[in-house]
Amino acid sequence: MANGTSALLEIRDLSVRFNTDSGVVRAVNGLDLSIQRGKSLGFVGETGAGKTTTALALLRLIQSPPGEITSGEIFFDGQDVLKMTESERRNLRGGKIAMIFQDPMTSLNPIMTVEEQIVEMISLHSRLRGRGAMKRAHEMLELVGIRSERGRDYPHQFSGGMRQRVGIAIALACEPTLLIADEPTTALDVTIQAQVIELIRNLQKMVSTSLLLITHDLGVVAEACDDVAIMYAGRLVEYAPLRPLYKHPMHPYTQGLFNAVPNFNSEPGVKLAVIQGLTPDPTNLPKGCSFSPRCPNARDICYKQSCGMREYESGHFVDCYFPLTTGEGA
Ligand SMILES: Nc1ncnc2c1ncn2[C@@H]1O[C@H](COP(=O)(O)OP(=O)(O)OP(=O)(O)O)[C@@H](O)[C@H]1O
Ligand SMILES: [Mg+2]
Repeated sequence: MANGTSALLEIRDLSVRFNTDSGVVRAVNGLDLSIQRGKSLGFVGETGAGKTTTALALLRLIQSPPGEITSGEIFFDGQDVLKMTESERRNLRGGKIAMIFQDPMTSLNPIMTVEEQIVEMISLHSRLRGRGAMKRAHEMLELVGIRSERGRDYPHQFSGGMRQRVGIAIALACEPTLLIADEPTTALDVTIQAQVIELIRNLQKMVSTSLLLITHDLGVVAEACDDVAIMYAGRLVEYAPLRPLYKHPMHPYTQGLFNAVPNFNSEPGVKLAVIQGLTPDPTNLPKGCSFSPRCPNARDICYKQSCGMREYESGHFVDCYFPLTTGEGA
C-alpha cells in the first residue's frame, strides 16, 4: 500500500483466527501493511483490534491451536516468512526482527542475570562469543542508560522503567533490520514513557532499523513515527504519513479517536466526544464495513460491503466510501 517500491516488510491479505470454545475469533481480516526501510510506522487501534496478533504472525509465533493463519503472504526483505523453514524463522527472530514486549517482566528470564540474557541473544545471532559478547552486552546496557556493573543483577532488582530498557538493549543488541515495539511504554509512568520513546527513536536512527510501534496512544505516535496505520477489527481503515493523517484524519473512526483526545484548543469544561457503541464481537463481525454500526456517516452500502482501501490523497489511503473532507467533523 505504501507507495515505495522496495518495502522492508510487506504483508498482503493476512487473516488470522483463533478457534475457541465460544466461536471463531476473527482477529486479523485481510490485512495489507508495509514498512519502508529505515522508517517507523505507528500501528494504532483499540484493545482487541488485532495489533499483537499481527506482530506475532509476522514472527510466526501464533500458537496453533487455537491460532491459525488462514490467508496471506508476509514478505520480509524479499523472503516469504510463511514459507520459511523453522531454522530460517529462528534466525529471523531476535536477529533480523526483534520485539520489545508490553510487559518486560514476562519477556525477561527471572533466573538469569541481565548481562547473561543479552550475551545469549548476541551469541545466538552474531559471531561474537565469550569476552567479545560480554563487552557488547555492556555497551548495550550503557547505551540504554544502565551502568554496565548492573549487568550482574537479576530482572527483579530493576525498576519497571529499567527493565523496559533492558528489553530494548536485548532487542537492539544484534542490530535488527526491523524492531517491533508492542506498547513499550504502557507499564511506565509518563516521564519515563517519554524517555523510553526517545531512546527507541534515537537508537532506531543510529542503527537505521525500521520500527513497527504498536500503541493506542496517538501522542506517542506523533513523537516517534513517520507513517501511521489505523486498525479497526482486524483491518486497516486508514494509512498515511504522519502529518497528513494528523492534519486531516479522513476515516470516521480515526476522526473519532482524535476527538476523544484532549487538546489545548478545547474549551475548558467541554466534554470529550466519545465514539458511540462498542467494538464488534470478533466472533460475529458485521457484514460490510466493520465500523458501520458505530459510524455517524454510514449509508446503505456501508452495511452491505466494505469499500476497500482507496487513495484519496497522494499516499493517504482510507477504507471508506464517504471519508471526511477537510473541515467536517464526526
Ligand atoms: N490465544 C488466543 N486465543 C483466543 N483469542 C485470542 C488469542 N489471542 C488473541 N485473541 C483474540 O484476538 C483478538 C485480537 O487480539 P490482539 O491481542 O491481537 O489485540 P490487540 O490489538 O493487541 O489488543 P491490546 O491493545 O489489548 O493489546 C482479540 O479479540 C483477542 O481476544
Ligand atoms: Mg496487544
